[in-house]
Amino acid sequence: MQGNREEFSSRLGFLLAATGSAVGLGNVWGFPTNTADNGGAAFVAVYFVLAFALAYPALMAELVIGRHTRANICTALQQISPPGTGRKMAGFAGFYAIIVASAILVFYTLVAGWMLAWLIAAVCTAIGLGDMATWFASSSLWRDILCAGIFAVFTVAVVSSGVHHGIERWSSRLLPSLLALLLALIAYVLFQPGALEGLRVYLVPDLSRLLEPQLLVSAMGQAFFSLSLGVGTMLVYGSYLSKDENLPAIGAMVTAVDCLVAFLAGLLIIPAMFVAQQLGITIYAGDALIAGPDLIFQVLPALFESMGLAGIVIAIAFFALMSMAALTSSISILEVPVALAVEKTPFTRPRASWMIGSAIFVGTVLVSVFFDRLFGWVVTVTTQYSQPLMGIALCLFAGWAMNRNQLLAEIRSGYDNVENSVFWKIWPFYVRLICPLLIAATFIQSVFL
Ligand code: PHE
Repeated sequence: MQGNREEFSSRLGFLLAATGSAVGLGNVWGFPTNTADNGGAAFVAVYFVLAFALAYPALMAELVIGRHTRANICTALQQISPPGTGRKMAGFAGFYAIIVASAILVFYTLVAGWMLAWLIAAVCTAIGLGDMATWFASSSLWRDILCAGIFAVFTVAVVSSGVHHGIERWSSRLLPSLLALLLALIAYVLFQPGALEGLRVYLVPDLSRLLEPQLLVSAMGQAFFSLSLGVGTMLVYGSYLSKDENLPAIGAMVTAVDCLVAFLAGLLIIPAMFVAQQLGITIYAGDALIAGPDLIFQVLPALFESMGLAGIVIAIAFFALMSMAALTSSISILEVPVALAVEKTPFTRPRASWMIGSAIFVGTVLVSVFFDRLFGWVVTVTTQYSQPLMGIALCLFAGWAMNRNQLLAEIRSGYDNVENSVFWKIWPFYVRLICPLLIAATFIQSVFL
């Protein structure tokens, strides 16, 4: 199996796929929402610091383990662990990450289905199918299941076509398109009346909030989710990366682009809210800006509606952007369990993809049916608890299970002279001790807040 393992065809291919995984609903929805919730630019500043100080080193840990072992996360962690109990535990840790990835995909598919529903609604409005538009824009169990199902089929279809022909090809198409849409939407919104007030709220920090523990915790959770960490996604993508590539540089690029897109999304959403306010739409709930689903499915649609014909085009562009962002992420999540199945069972990739995709979709249906009881719980357990904990575990695996020579050899491949770089002077020590301690400290705060 190892001999004919697929690889990304080029550095750009990997960059587009990994950035596509990172850039998702977390950037376009989660980041602006968290910013609105946590004092505007104060949150943005803390987020950028944490993204580079905590998330980047953890991302490097995943990429290094992945490329070194060239395997799915279970086999990878076992391979670098000492035989005996250590190896067994490593297998469990890998399997746990796969379960968490699958659980994330369960709720991600549902939310992505909502984006698709609003996209279909906007298209129906454009072609004069008013009743259908109303159905797709009104929340109902059947709508949710139908649209999540369509989204799940897209996800599985891409993953079943393989790393090169599926994941890389579709990420390369969708990511540039979504960036173009994002820039066009920002350019339009920033020239509307009210936008400058939004820009002020977004960019002028409320310094009194800077040291609030809640802000730190939200920023860390957001950074881990946004960079797709702690569930093996980046490890698995790293396992398909050529030995000629410079890992620290590539990891830094993925982190930078992810931050940039999050920042740009804020530049769209927050000013758009203030444009909506000018048009008489309520954007505050009490003292705070409206966040969460009400922001995306009430404030913004009300804004689009009040813009007449232009609003229909903008709505189509906006929900297409959301759906594309979601798809390049969901394929990376599905790849985590699929990689294990392809490498460890006799199933072919298409068969494994459809089987695992169907099982996850059953989870999505359950979460839709018992939404009030299950949705918040699954989101909290996976993103607030499991992702940081597995993030710590993966740093420890890279820092302690792999020895210094293995680490150096892995990073040197594609980066001559790495011994003299700042990265090599800091990272190995940082990933062994500082990074896990910092993540743990923030995590403990989040549990006791
Ligand atoms: N990073 C994706 C986003 O921002 C979500 C994601 C989480 C993807 C975990 C892969 C793994 O939406």
